[in-house]
Amino acid sequence: MRALPRLALALLTATATVAVVGAATDAAADPPPITILTSDFEDGSSQGWAGRSAETVAHSTAVAHSGTGSLLVSGRTASWQGPSLDVLGTFEKGTAYTISVWVRLASGSDNARLSVERRTGEVASYDQVVGNTAVTGDAWVNLTGRYTLATDVEFLRLYVETASTTGDLHIDDVTAGYVPALPVQTDIPSVKDVVTEFPVGAAITGAEIVTGHGELLTKHFDSVTPGNALKWDATEPTENTFTYAQADPLMAFARTNGLAVRGHTLVWHNQTPAWVFTGADGEPMTATAEDRALLLARLENHIRNVAAHYGTDIGVWDVVNEVIDESRPDGLRRSQWYTVAGLDYIRTAFRVAREVAPHAKLYINDYNTNVPAKRDFLFALVQRLKAEGVPIDGVGHQVHINIGWPTVAETEAMIDRFVPLGIDQQVTEMDVSIYTGNGESFPAPPADRLLKQAYVYRDMFALFRRYPGEITSVTLWGLADDNTWLDTFPVTRKDAPLLFDTSLQAKPAYWGVVDPSKVEPGTGASASASTDTGTNPGTGSCAVTYRVTGSWPGGFQADVKVTNTGATALASWRLAWQFTGGQQIAQLWGGTHTQSGPAVTVGNAAWNGGIAAGGSASFGFLGGWTGGNPVPAAFSLGGTACTVL
Ligand code: XIL
Repeated sequence: MRALPRLALALLTATATVAVVGAATDAAADPPPITILTSDFEDGSSQGWAGRSAETVAHSTAVAHSGTGSLLVSGRTASWQGPSLDVLGTFEKGTAYTISVWVRLASGSDNARLSVERRTGEVASYDQVVGNTAVTGDAWVNLTGRYTLATDVEFLRLYVETASTTGDLHIDDVTAGYVPALPVQTDIPSVKDVVTEFPVGAAITGAEIVTGHGELLTKHFDSVTPGNALKWDATEPTENTFTYAQADPLMAFARTNGLAVRGHTLVWHNQTPAWVFTGADGEPMTATAEDRALLLARLENHIRNVAAHYGTDIGVWDVVNEVIDESRPDGLRRSQWYTVAGLDYIRTAFRVAREVAPHAKLYINDYNTNVPAKRDFLFALVQRLKAEGVPIDGVGHQVHINIGWPTVAETEAMIDRFVPLGIDQQVTEMDVSIYTGNGESFPAPPADRLLKQAYVYRDMFALFRRYPGEITSVTLWGLADDNTWLDTFPVTRKDAPLLFDTSLQAKPAYWGVVDPSKVEPGTGASASASTDTGTNPGTGSCAVTYRVTGSWPGGFQADVKVTNTGATALASWRLAWQFTGGQQIAQLWGGTHTQSGPAVTVGNAAWNGGIAAGGSASFGFLGGWTGGNPVPAAFSLGGTACTVL
């Protein structure tokens, strides 16, 4: 194993305070990751890998994914036994790593998975990096996944295990790498300061509260929704054993940073353990009086514990989630909740939630509430339950939409429909997929899709802001595109549904919310790369400061400042230079770039085109180099040479 650039990370962290403006650029492909760990088993050793207990781990030449060696694990007596590697100190808290392992069984077939075991205060937790994947003795299978360590640990090991069998297995060509974090943009408006009609929130998992992500979260958002940590499988995995290990760090972060919390969710048909619906006889529950009583008692016990645990820290609860199914004649989802207990599960849930959390606003939450049939069933249900006295305070619209669906008018009709009920409404899980069909897949989001998405965000936020008395908060289902549930739903592919990109930089979607003039046709982000030769392309009278702020084997970070030394303001600018060391820009923020061989041109980003006389604009980038990294000697602005400072 080779643990590489601690150096690179230190340098990047050290330069993170440098003031740089961010990118609302067109889709930039992610820069190549920096490899921090490699196990190729080519040197005849097991390269630091060991078993998880008494199994035997040894170098092998029986099979190899590449070269001639692999690692063989034999003598396994349980399926959880397998190869493991100490990565304490290798994986830094808050950095997202991509981990890849090749796996092959000696014979037979099974499922294999890749996980991390971590321990804090001697309590072990197991984070799955790649779930069950079919493996055999006939071929190598790759497991690749992403991992972010979100807590302080005293033990951290990467391991491979199988689902059921205990035969011998091989691994080979293990790598882990990360994409360097870019500085969070501090000089752009905070979403929460621009949208003042209601609190704006983001769904979070552990990865959103550390380092740059935490900074981005608190800069832009008023509230958070734990995306999974308060669900039944996380809080009561076995009957009457309550655990808040997942939610506690998120809740502590919210408290420290003054963020409101939406509790999600007390009752759902997904992410609910099977024991909940298993009768006293060990059989699946049915609509008998006995099963019904047991189910409602379990429900009551669950809510009494979970809703009470954080008390007034949770001001809003999604009490029930996704109970409508418009394909049913009565519009009611045939979940196990419903088939065993009828509507009483909803009545019980709201009654108990009100009792234990009288301060909290209680919501019924659902998706596709813009679809008229679904919307009308939801309306009818809320109306009926309210008439019975069930304490429902609000309707939650998830708003998982895409760049082509639905229309603003359909969304407005959705809001209008519930106004007569006199209840609150919240947008609870908004994201805007760049895909309009399950067959599409892009390795990186195309610029035209990002622009369409910006218009959707612009138009939807404008709509919500026209209903300040009705819409009492809007939450996005995630913080940035590096962690979105849409990467695996409804199919596996890279999606980009949020306001910030995978490097935490503001997207056109962000500008759609914050300052739509930046994404209107003919201006700003939409056009800065191609049409900024316009009114005043910035001729003459300029000074340039080019600083390499971090450097590591094969890569570097630079910041560039352009100063207008002329007497008149610039409306836009375009800076050109030649690299002499074979450098290649991988990712740039604060502008849009093109590179052809050594020739680089950087145009302004949407918001930093205007430079007053004497003023300046900055951009930064990550680049690669091979032979050397000499600083460019000459720069020109709109064709005229600049002074180099
Ligand atoms: C999603 C989470 O984001 C995923 O991490 C998880 O694997 C599945 O659930 N509607 C809801 C949310 O109400 O709870 C779902 O969250 C997304 C759809």
